[in-house]
Amino acid sequence: MVKSPKAGAASTAQAGAADDTHARHKRASTASEAIQVERERYLPRGVYTYHGVYPASASGARVVDVNGDTYLDFAGGIGVMNVGHSHPAVVAAIQQQAALYTHTCAHVLTPPVYVELAKRLAEIAPGNSPKKTLLVNSGAEAVENAIKIARAATGRKAIIAFENSFHGRTNLALALTGKVRPYRQNFGPFASEIYAIPYPYRYRCAQHSGDENANCDEWQADLERTFLTRVPAEQVAAIIVEPVQGEGGFIVPPKEFLPALREICTRHGILLIVDEVQSGFGRTGRMFAAEHSGVEGDLMLMAKSLAAGLPLAAVVGRAEVMDAPEPGGLGGTYGGNPVACAAALAVLDIFAREGLLERANRLGATAMERMRAWQGRFALVGDVRGLGAMVAMELVRDRTTREPATAEAAMLLAEARKRGLILIKAGLFDNVIRLLMPLVTTDEEMAEALDIMEASLAAVSAVPAAEMAAAAH
Ligand SMILES: Cc1ncc(COP(=O)(O)O)c(C=O)c1O
Repeated sequence: MVKSPKAGAASTAQAGAADDTHARHKRASTASEAIQVERERYLPRGVYTYHGVYPASASGARVVDVNGDTYLDFAGGIGVMNVGHSHPAVVAAIQQQAALYTHTCAHVLTPPVYVELAKRLAEIAPGNSPKKTLLVNSGAEAVENAIKIARAATGRKAIIAFENSFHGRTNLALALTGKVRPYRQNFGPFASEIYAIPYPYRYRCAQHSGDENANCDEWQADLERTFLTRVPAEQVAAIIVEPVQGEGGFIVPPKEFLPALREICTRHGILLIVDEVQSGFGRTGRMFAAEHSGVEGDLMLMAKSLAAGLPLAAVVGRAEVMDAPEPGGLGGTYGGNPVACAAALAVLDIFAREGLLERANRLGATAMERMRAWQGRFALVGDVRGLGAMVAMELVRDRTTREPATAEAAMLLAEARKRGLILIKAGLFDNVIRLLMPLVTTDEEMAEALDIMEASLAAVSAVPAAEMAAAAH
């Protein structure tokens, strides 16, 4: 059993900590409150946090905070901890490598673990063509490098991305990202020659809103129009796509989508970049989400759960495409850090050994079943969707208009936290509750988390409309 956070001062402070502008004037009475005061004093407000919870230790799906309270962690550091916190094999691999050496720089003395990991990622990436691997430090850096490689390989400049996408916070990654707040907001100007088309978002697509079997293929007409009116296909270097949109709200596209996109790319000599940063490493019940449709990207991006929390990302692509940049054109001081590579190799061994893909499917199915039942009970639950363990529910104020229930989603997070469960949101309207629990979560922990979500939904649903309207402002 999770020891729920104590009622009273601690949990109240935690519940409001992220948004409480007066926190620095309060006297800290718990360890986490003291850190919260310092956080507000020394971190810029742009470094937002969902939760005023400060971890002391973590194991599997559980985190213990500095107050001694235990939480079930269903955010997993935003999809990073698929093998669970502090997996013994990962900890051992990190310790072993750190004791040998922590850095030499791949451009000076390439760590053998870099080469070994490059080989193993090339082997597990979907598709049969020979592949090569570049290692970098973050998802955004992988995105940036994929664009460089695609431009070098094709001699073309333009890139097509999707609305409601997220590709990272560096300037080029933001230029590709399809959400203004909080990502793009006032950070321009952005790189030119980037064009956005709609993603097939069944619950909100223009033609077939809400139809579970809709194709939502407006994107195809939009792409054809883009080729006619904005940029000719022969000047497009790449199309970058998330096989399931992550930050966009766990949008699972129709199964025809990726194959159709692949066909268009092949027909026009455009490279397909598959961004698996959030959907990869077992989250969807396959190692990579693109495997569900049998599509091979020319380049694919991996990060997050690749190295169980150590900063590491990869661009894996067709060998001749990856070799397009000249020697010295790719890399960086830290890319392929040996400690991070050792952690990633341990992660791959864990996937080979521990049946995490089956667990992902089982956890996802359990969550979907409960969430679908909530749809019948709580008007708030507008849509339930998912692939494998990449499961989410979209909250709405009104099932007919699908008005997003943004304040309700924020309140749900606070209610769940009070009961000992860490959740995070997603979506264009911040009204999607997504599950990113470690795949080692036990059936008992899953049931416990779903019970907490249900109680939290009941609590939010009971809030009078006027009070909720006040909370929204
Ligand atoms: C699909 C996708 N691409 C890229 C990124 C950026 O990764 P990072 O935060 O490691 O830069 C993210 C992060 O959430 C993501 O979900």
